[in-house]
Amino acid sequence: MSETASIKLQGEIYELPVITGTENEKAIDISTLRDRTSHIVLDSGYKNTGSTKSAITFLDGEKGILRYRGYPIEQLAEKSTFLEVVYLLIYGELPKKDVLEKFNVQVQKNSLLHEDMKKFYDGFPHGAHPMGQLCSLVSSLTAFAPESLKMHASSEEVDSSIIKLIAKMPTIVSWIYKGSIGEPFIYPSKNLDYVANFMNMTFGQVTHDFEIDPVAVDALNKILILHADHEQNCSTSTVRTVGSSGSNLYASVSAAISALWGPLHGGANQEVIEMLETIKADGGGVEKWVNKAKDKDDPFRLMGFGHRVYRNFDPRAQIIKKACHDVLNKLGLDDEVLEIAIRLEEAALHDDYFVERKLYPNVDFYSGIISRALGFRTDLFTVIFALGRLPGWIAQWKEQRESKEPISRPRQIYTGYTTRDYIDVENR
Ligand code: CMC
Repeated sequence: MSETASIKLQGEIYELPVITGTENEKAIDISTLRDRTSHIVLDSGYKNTGSTKSAITFLDGEKGILRYRGYPIEQLAEKSTFLEVVYLLIYGELPKKDVLEKFNVQVQKNSLLHEDMKKFYDGFPHGAHPMGQLCSLVSSLTAFAPESLKMHASSEEVDSSIIKLIAKMPTIVSWIYKGSIGEPFIYPSKNLDYVANFMNMTFGQVTHDFEIDPVAVDALNKILILHADHEQNCSTSTVRTVGSSGSNLYASVSAAISALWGPLHGGANQEVIEMLETIKADGGGVEKWVNKAKDKDDPFRLMGFGHRVYRNFDPRAQIIKKACHDVLNKLGLDDEVLEIAIRLEEAALHDDYFVERKLYPNVDFYSGIISRALGFRTDLFTVIFALGRLPGWIAQWKEQRESKEPISRPRQIYTGYTTRDYIDVENR
């Protein structure tokens, strides 16, 4: 017999079905509750609400498990390339060799931007934040791919929109950087793979080739893989919510980029480095900052600490911390900010406030340090996060579309005035 949960309301008992996932996670299906009882459930910030059933990513916050389509993040970060992970997330399986080669060619063929897009770059004032530019540029792709606007596009048309977005994103991002430093844009090369191509377009120059360092390419591969999906986080919920109204892929991803920008989400990696730099400028002592973070009258938080779902450790942070040491060692860099980060982590991990609240370093704590070592400017960190998260957003957008999920439309408990009569402006 299938499991049920009972809820007692005004003396009456209602049986509700219990849904079980493949990893034995349980949910009480309350979708009929309002019709049967005229009650809704209230859960601000969706701290305990499942918004969907999904077969893409499994995450266990208590045990620190993260798997894409069943594959442990540790194995993917160690052995795969970002483009393989892109394919895995979007199409559900690791690609066979010939499929991967074909996918790679399709991506390379679509990596050029329409020349008219250069006018958008010209239009941004100097200093425009890269994330603001990225939202606009991704959304503007609709203008060059009208088939993406069809609500009932065929699967071939959807695939075409997907390939274009995956292919053009590195070009869009690197050109944002080039535009910000006033250098000519570098076009994609058919001789380089996805990540090396991105680095070449970002750091290469028209006058001389960029020397691609395999250590740097490997580190960026890892960063992108570790960020590639994270189930129903703020930006992913956004992509599914926007997509549920029938909005096209580019508009939905543009909305997700906006959600990611916030300092409590993807914007944290920029904030972490800025925080560590502030601590360095202040003499490098960490105790003062740990105390500030604990002070409820002080808005300061330890950026890169805490996570809505990870309550013991963030598996991504463990991989990235090791990668961070490897990269700095291999590139022969000495970064005082890394030393401060390690001391700050130590201090927080031994502090009752952080221990009681189960606050641990998250992926953003170390990703900024690697990104900086690779040469990315601080305000580009969140854009790198977006480049990594893109396949996850696409996979989640595609999944909600294919499973024909209803339009996302939560309810509320109204706490405003009850009815009152209009008063003329002279008498208010
Ligand atoms: N520094 C100090 N106190 C903290 C921190 C922090 N970084 N994070 C949480 N707390 C405290 C918070 O004040 C609260 O204390 P109390 O119970 O006394 O009121 C308690 O811990 C629970 O925090 P919360 O804000 O209710 O937890 P949440 O699940 O709503 O928020 C979070 C999660 C990630 C937004 C939050 O931990 C935070 O603001 N962290 C800093 C920003 C950050 O690093 N964000 C990146 C997240 S990982 C990348 C991604 O996937 O987006």
